[in-house]
Amino acid sequence: MSTATESTASAGLRGVVAAQSAIGDVDGVNGVLIYQGYDIHELAENATFEEVVYLLWNGRLPNSAELSELSEQFRAHYAVPADIIELMKRFPKDAEPMDVLRTAVSALDFYDKAGHSTDRDNATKAAIKITSQIGTLAAAWDRVRNDKEVVKPDTSLSIAENFLYMLRGEKADPEEARMFDIALILHADHELNASTFTTRVVAGTLADMYGAVTAGIAALAGPLHGGANTAVMKMLLEIGSEDKIDQFVESALEEKRKIMGIGHAVYKTEDPRATWLRKFSKTMAERKGETKWFDMSQRIEKLMLEKKGMYPNVDFYSASTYYLMDIPLDLFTPIFAVSRISGWTGHILEQYDNNKLIRPRAEYIGKRDQKYVPLEER
Ligand code: COA
Repeated sequence: MSTATESTASAGLRGVVAAQSAIGDVDGVNGVLIYQGYDIHELAENATFEEVVYLLWNGRLPNSAELSELSEQFRAHYAVPADIIELMKRFPKDAEPMDVLRTAVSALDFYDKAGHSTDRDNATKAAIKITSQIGTLAAAWDRVRNDKEVVKPDTSLSIAENFLYMLRGEKADPEEARMFDIALILHADHELNASTFTTRVVAGTLADMYGAVTAGIAALAGPLHGGANTAVMKMLLEIGSEDKIDQFVESALEEKRKIMGIGHAVYKTEDPRATWLRKFSKTMAERKGETKWFDMSQRIEKLMLEKKGMYPNVDFYSASTYYLMDIPLDLFTPIFAVSRISGWTGHILEQYDNNKLIRPRAEYIGKRDQKYVPLEER
């Protein structure tokens, strides 16, 4: 029998290359993130989220006819079946938005029989529907739980604009909508993170797109993955003011408590996504005339760099950005899903294209040669 100390298993599969993928790559040493060969900065500067979704799914940027066609398809599917909204109305009002999203996406499957097929054409159609509808579901749940009328999607709007519109009942101004669109671009893909790997494992059994995405949502919900953006804002609210930061950080480090939104398993330098979100947090602070959260974040960033040589990750400044966009704290992680759906579905399509069942081995550390003892003799 082997023991833990002799183990050849890799804890958490760190360093294990589990798939070949052309979708995205993370260079943690140099702080570079690419989608299909394009630097994230170039895409954030120039592209729309819809263009990035096309890129992730097809391996190249769309021409204008292709982009219009895909955007039209998204818009045609923003509305979810009325039954799904009725179903949501029966959920407890205090249900976690991520749990609602997981259940509702799973239920969408009932209304898309063609989506059960794993050939590229049908699976892409399912990917289009889920990408269109996941934002609708997240926004609709916030309305339902607050006893507000669900806002009908506006098919003249982009995915980012429509989400903000359905959430608030009024359109975002162009600057805010563009910031939100870029935030979706920044969160779209991040190689084999836990939720994306989950979607590939499920897709690898040739289960359908809805099942694979449902599993991805479940994985994203965990506090060690998508939940950190909410945790950052809770931490800032708990600290309350800039003069309490130094003491808070000092105590946290002494007590070996982690500062949320700082550090990364892969990036050992600035996370390129944080560069953009820092800018957005500042812009939102100036727009709202409320610089407190940005100033506090900057102070934490400075201290953590000085004391631990650690940098902010994607969640750090997205927290104050979304907060100042008046987005409820518990919708920060669903917003991650509204974006990451593009990476998940891209990876699922890639998995279907060249499928092999994902079936690793476990290193057995249990007993052997046990003999069955009849119940009455135990
Ligand atoms: N605040 C304070 N200390 C931190 C820290 C943080 N955010 N992140 C890591 N550390 C410390 C650990 O306590 C550990 O210290 P030690 O060596 O004295 O025990 C050391 O740095 C290594 O930590 P570890 O968790 O093993 O590093 P990792 O690279 O595997 O972890 C994260 C990466 C993201 C899991 C980790 O940085 C973290 O938990 N960050 C906060 C949560 C978060 O923002 N998650 C979102 C990630 S996108």
